[in-house]
Amino acid sequence: MRTLQVDLGERSYPIHIGEGLLAQPELIVPYIAGRQVAIVTNETVAPLYLGRLTQTLAGYGVTPIVLPDGEAYKNWETLQRIFDSLLAERHDRRTTIIALGGGVIGDMAGFAAACYQRGVDFLQVPTTLLSQVDSSVGGKTGINHPLGKNMVGAFYQPKAVIIDTSTLSTLPARELSAGLAEVIKYGLICDEPFLGWLEDNMSALRALDSAVLTEAIERSCAAKARVVGVDERESGLRAILNLGHTFGHAIETHQGYGVWLHGEAVAAGTVMALEMSARLGWISVEERNRGIRLLQRAGLPVVPPVGMTPDDFLEHMAVDKKVLDGRLRLVLVRRLGDAVVTSDFPQEILQATLSADYRTLVAKLGDE
Ligand code: NAD
Ligand code: GLY
Repeated sequence: MRTLQVDLGERSYPIHIGEGLLAQPELIVPYIAGRQVAIVTNETVAPLYLGRLTQTLAGYGVTPIVLPDGEAYKNWETLQRIFDSLLAERHDRRTTIIALGGGVIGDMAGFAAACYQRGVDFLQVPTTLLSQVDSSVGGKTGINHPLGKNMVGAFYQPKAVIIDTSTLSTLPARELSAGLAEVIKYGLICDEPFLGWLEDNMSALRALDSAVLTEAIERSCAAKARVVGVDERESGLRAILNLGHTFGHAIETHQGYGVWLHGEAVAAGTVMALEMSARLGWISVEERNRGIRLLQRAGLPVVPPVGMTPDDFLEHMAVDKKVLDGRLRLVLVRRLGDAVVTSDFPQEILQATLSADYRTLVAKLGDE
């Protein structure tokens, strides 16, 4: 097992990474203050892992809260079901909420923990690659609004993150690829050598090679922990973690939540951010192409949805959380491995990026 630390003063917590951790009470029990536990999960994950985790917590009063599965349920109605169960089972302020599932469950259970009786303890037990490398770390919690992704939420840190890598054995390949979008992100924003490592190990990652996956998760979590340790509440640096997300959130909102997976939308959005960085002259066309090829090799979409117009993008991007005083800010790549958040770009370059013919651009890559 590997253990990393998110350093946030009194809100610091460990990230444990390893195979079979769900069955190890000594890793989980120290973070449970009272006798009550609520495990928030969904209809897909419950039959796979709820029994194992419940067994590990023998001796505690466990309330399973099994929600419908999908991004489309990351909303007020589903959140209310968590509060309904907690109150019906008389959970008090010493209860601990455990999020068992992907990023949708982690974001919702974390938000419920932030709000229930003004805040109760919470553990993240992420079971998708995306949640293991990104959403379970850093304390962003929340739900979607029909007009915008993740628009209602709170910063609320877990007491610990327990990453059992063996849960990835049941993850559909499309979901694994979606997680790889966020892994590649870390290389692009802050760890250029990691891009080379990913190029060498992409086949092994997609074949679920345990050692290679563990290393990718550890490197990703270490990068995220570093950034969050510097800027917990996104007053500056943390926004670089959103490379590709402004374009990607626009895709998710426009298509309808759950039609494109979050990681897929981020992948296409990352290509747009790379294209804009190249148009600004910050990276070369070869560097842009290197990023696109890696995303392709991860099995990800690298072009925006058919029929989505520049105006569609602009409409949805206007409600991005990085908009400040009405000015759109974007995460762009100054050099591979070095991202910046900026509103200092000519409007024509943004327009050209939104209007670019990504299908032709990507088709040409295949001919090189
Ligand atoms: P998800 O939670 O929808 O999970 C993907 C699918 O995999 C679901 O159908 C789920 O039931 C299933 N699943 C989960 N674990 C499984 C397993 N081990 N075996 C088989 N199936 C399994 O999606 P996700 O990609 O994990 O997370 C995406 C969400 O995370 C989005 O809502 C996004 O906004 C959010 N997110 C949050 C942050 C953050 O910092 N809080 C960061 C990135 C993404
Ligand atoms: N996924 C972006 C962040 O955690 O800040």
